[in-house]
Order: sequence, then structure tokens, then C-alpha cells
Amino acid sequence: MQIFTDPRAFQLACRALRRSATGEEQPLGLVPTMGALHAGHMSLVAASRARDAVTAASIFVNPLQFGPREDLATYPRRWEQDVAQLEAAGVALLFAPTPETMYPPGFTTAVEVTGLSERLCGASRPGHFRGVATVVLKLFLLAAPQRAYFGQKDAAQVAVLRRMVRDLNLDIEIVVQPIVREADGLAMSSRNAYLSAAERPAALGLSRTLRAIEAAYAGGERDPQRLLAVGDAVVTATPGLRLDYLAAVDADSLAPVACAGPNTLFAIAAFVGKTRLIDNWLVS
Ligand code: PAJ
Repeated sequence: MQIFTDPRAFQLACRALRRSATGEEQPLGLVPTMGALHAGHMSLVAASRARDAVTAASIFVNPLQFGPREDLATYPRRWEQDVAQLEAAGVALLFAPTPETMYPPGFTTAVEVTGLSERLCGASRPGHFRGVATVVLKLFLLAAPQRAYFGQKDAAQVAVLRRMVRDLNLDIEIVVQPIVREADGLAMSSRNAYLSAAERPAALGLSRTLRAIEAAYAGGERDPQRLLAVGDAVVTATPGLRLDYLAAVDADSLAPVACAGPNTLFAIAAFVGKTRLIDNWLVS
């Protein structure tokens, strides 16, 4: 695995590897991450390895997508473990820039997916999706992948990035992989490392809330307010869980739905102590 910190060197290496020995264009898959890798991240790598001739990954804790009072400084960093995992999984190129190389002095351009960026996490984390869209567009322009892999875990991020790709005519296929969970149902997340053993039962409230909504939906309920009330009851009954939002929205526009059905996204964000966790259920 080749490791790059310099954007230009990474760009040239991707360009070279997109050409096969016979000079033909071969598919390159990109897996953007912020590191502290777990099975959720590795499922994206595996999906790319199964389809693409070359898999590139990035590890960059992107300061642009953190608010001033968020966990940028304490975000888990596990460089050696991450490199070993990516190497073992067959990743050919790893891009791990510094904030200074990604955003040199004078950097001022931003990508704003207006209308989507303010919804769900965008409402409670102003500027978050602008930071995500900006860094992901940079990564797309550097790697120029045929496909880029993202997790359903961050469903709003997927909606924002799909819209960016469509709006800017990027010739990149966004591939979305299912949420990978712990055995107890907790969606895997780098931030789960913040949870103490005592906080873990409260964290399970997120997936329990979504399962209760799913059960009510399976029972025939389609009214989003009544479905959300079922979820709210679980949140209220879970000590130590502080709700940020629980919403029923269209998975593409992220706008609230009048009636639940296919492509409705039930999304939850909640705090357990200082740790902010998210989860969702997409009606298929
Ligand atoms: P990060 O939180 O590291 O996640 C990287 C990718 O892994 C995202 O596409 C995310 O949805 C996916 N992922 C995380 N947990 C998952 C799980 N339990 N199951 C399946 N996929 C999972 O998301 C980001 O980084 C950043 O916003 C980034 C896109 C890298 C831009 O900075």
C-alpha cells in the first residue's frame, strides 16, 4: 500500500493506477474515512475490492465539518491499526493529508448543497454538511474514482453527496453499503469508543427506537406522527438518552413526509453523556 500526505502526489498516483498495464482505463474505487476504522468502514473497502481493480482510501479528520464546540481535538486517532487493516484488506493507495495541505492559507472555497445541508444533522450542526461536501469534492477531484463508497449509517450525508454529484455532473457512482452493527444492535461508529460501560445501555436506545418504529410500520401504521410517537416513547423510557432529533423524511430530499412508505427515512440523533450518536432505518 502506498501512503500519501501530499494531495498532488496522491492525484498523480491515482491517475497512474487508473491505467492498466495495457494502457486501458480500469475502475478505481474510493473509500473516504476519518479513521479509527471498524467493521463498518471495512465493509466499504470490501465492497470496493469486490468491484474495482484499484481501491483507494482516505483518512482525514476534516476540521471543516466539526463545529467549534465539537470533538475535533479528541476524535479517536488510531493510525497504526488503521494502516494495518487497510493494508490487509488490499487497499492500494492511502491518502492521509494534514489539515494544512488540504486547506492551505487562503483556502476559501466551499460547497453548499443548499436545502439539504440544513436538515437533520445539518440543523443541529450548522456548517457540518458544507464541510463534508467540500472535503468529499476535493477527494473526488484528487482520486477521480469511478465509484465512491459510503455507509447508510450517515443517510443524510449520502443524500447531500448524491445531490452534489447530480448537480455538478460528476461522473462518479455513489455506492451505499448497509449499516454494520454490533451484536447488541448498536450501529458501529468511531465515536462508540467514547462510551463507558455504564453508558452503553442508553446507547442501545437508538436502535431500539428504530426497531419499535419498524414494528409499528410492519403492523400497518403509516402516519409519520404516530410512528414517531412510538419512537419517542422508547426514547423517553431510556434513562441517559437525550434526544437531538427523531424525524421521518424523504431519503433523497430530507424533507418531512406526510405518509410513511418506501424511501422514507427514520433518522435519530441522540446524546449519551457527551457522546452524540446517530442511527436510521430506511423503509425499503
Ligand atoms: P467516517 O465517520 O469515518 O465514516 C466513513 C464512512 O464509513 C462513511 O461513509 C460512513 O457512513 C461509513 N460508516 C461509518 N459507520 C458505519 C457503519 N456502522 N456501517 C456502515 N458504514 C459505516 O463519514 C465520514 O467519516 C466523513 O464525513 C467523510 C465522508 C469521510 C468526510 O469527511
